[in-house]
Amino acid sequence: MADVQKLSIPDLAAMKKEGKKISMITAYSYPQALLVDEAGIDIILVGDSLGMVELGYNGTTPVTMDEMLNHTKPVMRAVKRCHVVGDMPFMSYNISKEQAITNAGILYKDGGCDSIKLEGGQDFAPTVEAIVKAGIPVFGHIGLTPQTAGALGGFKVQGKSLDAAKKVIEDAMALDAAGAFAIVLEAIPRQLAQLITQKVKCITIGIGGGIDCDGQVLVLHDILGLFKRFTPKFVKVYANAYDFQLKAVKEFIGEVQEKKFPTEEYTFTMKDDVVQELRKQYGL
Ligand code: KIV
Repeated sequence: MADVQKLSIPDLAAMKKEGKKISMITAYSYPQALLVDEAGIDIILVGDSLGMVELGYNGTTPVTMDEMLNHTKPVMRAVKRCHVVGDMPFMSYNISKEQAITNAGILYKDGGCDSIKLEGGQDFAPTVEAIVKAGIPVFGHIGLTPQTAGALGGFKVQGKSLDAAKKVIEDAMALDAAGAFAIVLEAIPRQLAQLITQKVKCITIGIGGGIDCDGQVLVLHDILGLFKRFTPKFVKVYANAYDFQLKAVKEFIGEVQEKKFPTEEYTFTMKDDVVQELRKQYGL
């Protein structure tokens, strides 16, 4: 097989310039990363949505650095082509610039990802600038920020009024100026995402941001129909993998209970005389 070229940040920036849409999806394990990389995804986000779709938490805030590291490493072992973003968990970057650089460094160096993502706008621009200066590429995340959704009044669309929209634009401009190479725009009106995409030089990736962003991201479990607790309006479900897998596991259980599995096809055997000798020796 021909060597696969790893996508660089300049390659992604060139896609924005050329108007080529960028595809991004979450993945949290070796097999998931193999699958989406083979499918041709441009960016994997090892998102802190991990907490909800893989670890069974109610939200993203309980996710720890160790959990993010444990899921970033196997993803890195799987990918050949796509860019991988490691998500900074809540409170791993919120206390000080020093704390943010230290933890970004751990995720980047030990986790091996190609960039890190953190949530927040203008307030976090100095943090973004400090991490970028330390040599680590940063992906921003504004609009609806799940780690602080409580403070935003829940999982609601952001930036609908003039003042609220201006705040989101200012957030985007601050992150752009701080050196973020890309920003996730979550749950904001399409027109606002379009304005931001035109205004900033960095890449915009929408999740509930409409068609005009430079690219789109969704959670893998959502598009595969693996996570049924709730489905936001912006999620398109492309498969019913939960029911597909449920059917397979139920079939296995049924075949075990009915003594239909394993048949000879799935069984190892040994010579009869060895069996007879074993029977003799063990009185069976
Ligand atoms: O953690 C995550 O999956 C995310 C996406 C929703 C962008 O941050």
